[in-house]
Amino acid sequence: MSYGLTFGLDALMIMLLIVLWSIARSKAGRFVRSSDAAQLRRRIRGILITIGLAMLPIAGRLALLFKLQSDKGWIFTQDKWLFHLPLLLIPAAAVILFTIPRLHVLSPLASGNDRAGLDAGQRRSASDPYLVMPLHAAALGSVVSFFFMLVPPALTHWERVAWPSGVLLLTLLLLGYIQVRRQRAWSRPDAPLQRSLPQRLLRTGASVLVIAIAFGAWFVTAEAASRLPGRISMMAGVADYGGGAATTLHHTEGHEGHTSVESLTGPQTGEPDRKFTLTAEKKTIKLPSGEMMEAWTYNGQLPGPELRMRHGELIEVTLINKDIENGVTIHWHGLDVPNAEDGVAGATQNAVMPGQTHTYRFVAEQTGTYWYHSHQDSAESVKKGLFGSLIVDPTDTAATDRHDITVITHYWEDGSMTFNSSGQPIEYIQTSPGTPVRLRLINTDNWVERKFAVVGTPFRVIAIDGMDLSEPTELTDTHLQITTGGRFDVAFTMPDHPVFLSIDGKSKHGILFSQDGSRTVPPIPDTLLFDPSDYGSPKPTPFDLDSPFDREFMMVLDNMIGFYDGKFDQLYTINGDVFPNTPMYMVKEGDLVKTTIVNRGMVDHPMHLHGHHMLVLSRNGKAVSGSPWWSDTLYVAPGETYEVAFIADNPGIWMNHCHNLEHAAVGMTMHLSYEGVWSPFEIGHATVNKPE
Ligand code: C2O
Ligand code: CU
Repeated sequence: MSYGLTFGLDALMIMLLIVLWSIARSKAGRFVRSSDAAQLRRRIRGILITIGLAMLPIAGRLALLFKLQSDKGWIFTQDKWLFHLPLLLIPAAAVILFTIPRLHVLSPLASGNDRAGLDAGQRRSASDPYLVMPLHAAALGSVVSFFFMLVPPALTHWERVAWPSGVLLLTLLLLGYIQVRRQRAWSRPDAPLQRSLPQRLLRTGASVLVIAIAFGAWFVTAEAASRLPGRISMMAGVADYGGGAATTLHHTEGHEGHTSVESLTGPQTGEPDRKFTLTAEKKTIKLPSGEMMEAWTYNGQLPGPELRMRHGELIEVTLINKDIENGVTIHWHGLDVPNAEDGVAGATQNAVMPGQTHTYRFVAEQTGTYWYHSHQDSAESVKKGLFGSLIVDPTDTAATDRHDITVITHYWEDGSMTFNSSGQPIEYIQTSPGTPVRLRLINTDNWVERKFAVVGTPFRVIAIDGMDLSEPTELTDTHLQITTGGRFDVAFTMPDHPVFLSIDGKSKHGILFSQDGSRTVPPIPDTLLFDPSDYGSPKPTPFDLDSPFDREFMMVLDNMIGFYDGKFDQLYTINGDVFPNTPMYMVKEGDLVKTTIVNRGMVDHPMHLHGHHMLVLSRNGKAVSGSPWWSDTLYVAPGETYEVAFIADNPGIWMNHCHNLEHAAVGMTMHLSYEGVWSPFEIGHATVNKPE
């Protein structure tokens, strides 16, 4: 059973319990007003049936919990054992111990005097607090359980448990007090069972008002508490040393031996081997639907121009912002450049505003497929077009007589998708049998795990996130799922019949290779998902699962509803928090660092660490057994656990965030911070910087 299904079923059963227990408690509340014994008997029977039915979802939830425990372990079940289970079982036990015996006592009392109202004794037993209160507790307990699904009680946040539990206990005390008084009043034979209508209205009105005031107060304070200050250092996170020695952290200048990120540049002198100029400018374009869109472009091109360079070259890129009022930067996604060249507004530079320029200089130290995009207001900027591909060729390839094709996919506002500058849904390429073809697949879209498949010939996955795989074997009937920001390179040799690269697993978008210019797309077979954790051959790596790690971090991804910077939203949390309360991983240069990434939530999170490549050590508890798998943007699906590691060899303040950029924009971001490095840059409404 999938993790998502387990989650969904559990939520469904909580809702069922809310309904069933609410029915039971309202039936019990009406006992005393039964017009005669026959009606009381019917109500007792009804309530017993409802209680019986409620046992089914209870058993269901227990079964799911044991299943989840055996499949996924403590980290996925701790909330359920500690908080959901007591809410589920304690009231249910009370119902069995207190309510049911009293129903059995009440039942014979209700026989005999049919056609007459209840007598004092019957009224007394029918309004017994011991009969009614367990049902209240069960109903309200399931409501709190549901709340815990929306706002998971992170173990570091006792207030998230204390508040709902406190409200629950107070409400039960109040209801209990009311019930005791009612029972006393109703035991008098002549007591009115119903208050007058105005009295009842007044009472209901008052309770609604109290609830509204309490809720409003919570809303207003939570909203205010979530507002980001006008200026805040990106280094404002909560220091996490990963079990290693504490390192010093300074937000300000003037500390002996502290380096500003500004000085961590690439080579400042020397004639560059290659120079590029990228001008950020608006351009109105016509989308395939005919709709006009104001695009934000580099050099008026969509996507931006491909930056192609060779390994070891000194690169200089001049960024000019012509008219993008939000500001721009350029981040070299996946390329591990020196920190000051990383292009993150508010961390490594200020956003480049209209009329301003900024120069980046770095040596291309890795080969492979990368991309670049603005890291100022990036959720918006990438959507509107501020991105392009970046390819680093090895020094020794001729790259002449083969097809080396970049496929950078992107959705536009009208829902149309492009993967090349022509904007055509299918591209036709004529080529002769025996020609080697290399496809560089890049996914730039949030929320999309794009499905690519090569149809018509066996193919190999030769690189992931720019890093070559060792001895990749041939694959057929296999599709690749590429997460936001991720890159896969695939290769095949052109056969004597057509080959189709399917984008999205269908025949609507793709590239058709043929000898004769054929326009007939071959049928798409059923395919299995490619698994990088068990592909190719092992090869020595600088460290592995058994290495002595200097620091071990835990990164638990989850979701909750709440406020971010004054806006009510679905939030995505790291260790129960959103920025600036997310942890900041503190390291010393040279540390060997391991991170365990766990996705307890309901949506995918492609986690992207800047400035470093992570070696994936294990996936869902199973060690990676094929080629070493290095990643900079790791697709972590709901219910998955990864162990990854890297060497802290690139000093700076580095972002570590979800590349579903909308998630990052509501706080799913944190930092890796090296000892002795500080950043003078700030984010917040009073600055121009808004990295996400
Ligand atoms: Cu491609 Cu921090 O981003
Ligand atoms: Cu995410």
